[in-house]
Amino acid sequence: MTNASAAGPSAWARDLHAHLTTHVEIERGMLEEYRSAAEESSSKAFGYLVNLLIEDEIRHHRILMQLADSLETMSLRPREEPEVPYLDFNRGDTQAVLDLTEKLLQKEQQDTVELKRIQRELRDVKDTSIWGLLVELMERDTQKHIAILKFVKKHTRRR
Ligand SMILES: [Fe+2]
Ligand SMILES: [Fe+2]
Repeated sequence: MTNASAAGPSAWARDLHAHLTTHVEIERGMLEEYRSAAEESSSKAFGYLVNLLIEDEIRHHRILMQLADSLETMSLRPREEPEVPYLDFNRGDTQAVLDLTEKLLQKEQQDTVELKRIQRELRDVKDTSIWGLLVELMERDTQKHIAILKFVKKHTRRR
């Protein structure tokens, strides 16, 4: 992106690319800190939780790289497929996509209820274990999954 031809990326693409790559650097620094924190600590619970953070940060890093790379592909090699696919939910059998999305959405809603119940059962160990925290994180993940599915639903045309 940086040494692109005049006909290449727009100012928007150049700015965004710079922000994405800066963010990748920040995330890389945090990942290093988390790694040494996990290694140096004598607390297994702390190590366990930091490893969860590391998993997330690795994913963030991967996605940021894919976004930066896709921006480059779209600007400089528009005929190629970017790593982050174009929004193409309306290709092919959209009814099948919608039906599946609806089914998964219902499962995730059930999951929300189920996790709430487990959380209630863990009330007594809430402050004496990391279990409640882990279930809370799963509840947040479930909200994330619901957001993903709702996005698909919103952007898929009914036939
Ligand atoms: Fe992150
Ligand atoms: Fe889920």
